[in-house]
Amino acid sequence: MRLILLGAPGAGKGTQAERISEKLGIPTISTGNILREAIKNGTQTGLKAKAFMDQGLLVPDDVIIGIVSERLDQEDCRGGYILDGMPRTIPQAQALEDTGIRIDSVISIEIDDAIIEPRMTGRRVCSGCGSSYHISANPPKNEGVCDVCGGPLVIRRDDTPETVRHRLEVFHQETEALKGFYQKLGKLRLIEGNQPIEDVTRDIMTALGV
Ligand code: AP5
Ligand code: MG
Ligand code: ZN
Repeated sequence: MRLILLGAPGAGKGTQAERISEKLGIPTISTGNILREAIKNGTQTGLKAKAFMDQGLLVPDDVIIGIVSERLDQEDCRGGYILDGMPRTIPQAQALEDTGIRIDSVISIEIDDAIIEPRMTGRRVCSGCGSSYHISANPPKNEGVCDVCGGPLVIRRDDTPETVRHRLEVFHQETEALKGFYQKLGKLRLIEGNQPIEDVTRDIMTALGV
């Protein structure tokens, strides 16, 4: 199963990717998490990406396409994967098509802009493994500590209200058009994102027929 998760910032891509990944036994490839890790480690890619991410802008397509094609070549991707946060532009989607990879389904998690801000202000992420939590909707078992890896939970640098507004604009300008791209290929499935986390997961699994 090769799956793409589309959706606005805060739609729940990361949250759902973790849950589906566990159920289907396939890895999640989150470009956001890979870039944050690169920044933390001070790599060349991280240095290139940081200024874009801090402003809520997209990292250039060539950087993203390089990261993802390298990742998809790894052994654990043989049996399928979930792409969280890639593609985000038509050139990225086209680059993915050009590799000859057959994507089975594209799930778009639909959410109104008005719901995004409270989700972002309450979000905490693990600085170890990137897992997403929410102080009220999805709290960790122990406050401030990741359930998965025990790492400390932090607020993402790009979760300030102003940067979230930029990210949302960028989503509407550059990423939303991907729905049309995948609709034409007959791969798009729309899922209501404004419902409890487990209900979103159930609807995705139903849409996938698993
Ligand atoms: P990325 O990390 O992908 O950020 P994003 O797309 O803005 O999405 P988020 O991670 O903010 O939201 P999410 O949908 O994963 O929501 P989550 O599950 O955490 O990208 C960051 C940056 O990296 C970009 O701005 C760009 O600069 C760069 N980048 C990355 N990929 C790129 C690419 N392909 N091309 C170019 N640049 C790229 O949920 C949010 C919160 O809500 C959490 O607190 C969660 O617990 C809570 N929540 C989730 N679901 C529910 C629910 N159903 N009900 C209540 N609360 C919920
Ligand atoms: Mg995410
Ligand atoms: Zn963790």
